[in-house]
Amino acid sequence: MSEQKELLKVNGLSYAYSEDKNALDDVSFSVYEGENVALIGHNGSGKSTLAKALMGLIEPIQGEITFFGLPLNRKNLYEIRGKIGIVFQNPDNQFVGSTVADDIAFGLENACVPQNQMQEIIERFASEVGMSEYLGHEPQNLSGGQKQRVAIAGVLAMKPSFIIFDEATAMLDPKGRAEISSLVKKMREDNPSLTILSITHDIEEASRADRILVLNAGKKVYEGKPAPFFHNKELLASTGLFSPFLYKLKDELAKQGINVPEEVDDLRKLEEFLCR
Ligand SMILES: Nc1ncnc2c1ncn2[C@@H]1O[C@H](COP(=O)(O)OP(=O)(O)OP(=O)(O)O)[C@@H](O)[C@H]1O
Ligand SMILES: [Mg+2]
Repeated sequence: MSEQKELLKVNGLSYAYSEDKNALDDVSFSVYEGENVALIGHNGSGKSTLAKALMGLIEPIQGEITFFGLPLNRKNLYEIRGKIGIVFQNPDNQFVGSTVADDIAFGLENACVPQNQMQEIIERFASEVGMSEYLGHEPQNLSGGQKQRVAIAGVLAMKPSFIIFDEATAMLDPKGRAEISSLVKKMREDNPSLTILSITHDIEEASRADRILVLNAGKKVYEGKPAPFFHNKELLASTGLFSPFLYKLKDELAKQGINVPEEVDDLRKLEEFLCR
């Protein structure tokens, strides 16, 4: 890990909406190039506040954020934003265009993509998220899940090197979620330096991340590989989180004297391991 490029460094970050309580309290962590990091924590633990701070939308009361070696400040804000894509928790706040196509185009125009390439990019990404039929529709008349699909298409079309997803697929049905997940997987295979910070309540998704960050009441309480966290009953209980099905199963098997190795990290591999 040490030779990996540090793309994001957050150091001692604190933020408060009101005087009596910090929404973020002395949070420090790093994200390295090519990583897929999941940020988890119960409702109100500070995840979206952290995402807003990372986009420079709120000014921390303490601490620093450094992206690509550049401190996040007024001077560097636009350069940094140009390299980051974010899909916010509530897609309504994200639409600027009067049609789905305009909306995807808006980001591309800002990124100075030549006009003659734009149509092809818009059509490709609309199709990737299953929204080709809706290019002429008004974004505000779409369903929640369709809005999320458009917001994701708009961000992916920009080809950012760092993407922050804040519950970006929370309103998608299981099939839609699986489609977006395989689209992102494919994009990471095509571009191994694509780096993802994904805020999620989907514990199964978090368990598949390279590393997880756990927030509790504004404080970081865990940073590392998913497995040690999901096997730690006390930490799980104190953060109000649950263990993914696979981990529960592994813990039960361990009680029966069957110790499943760490590399068995999905149900298919577990089945193979047990049938051996
Ligand atoms: N605009 C705001 N004004 C005042 N307090 C806020 C505001 N936004 C969030 N908070 C408070 O800050 C804390 C952290 O909120 P945040 O939205 O970051 O949580 P979260 O981890 O994203 O939660 P969720 O899982 O529900 O999305 C909460 O206590 C919340 O009530
Ligand atoms: Mg949130």
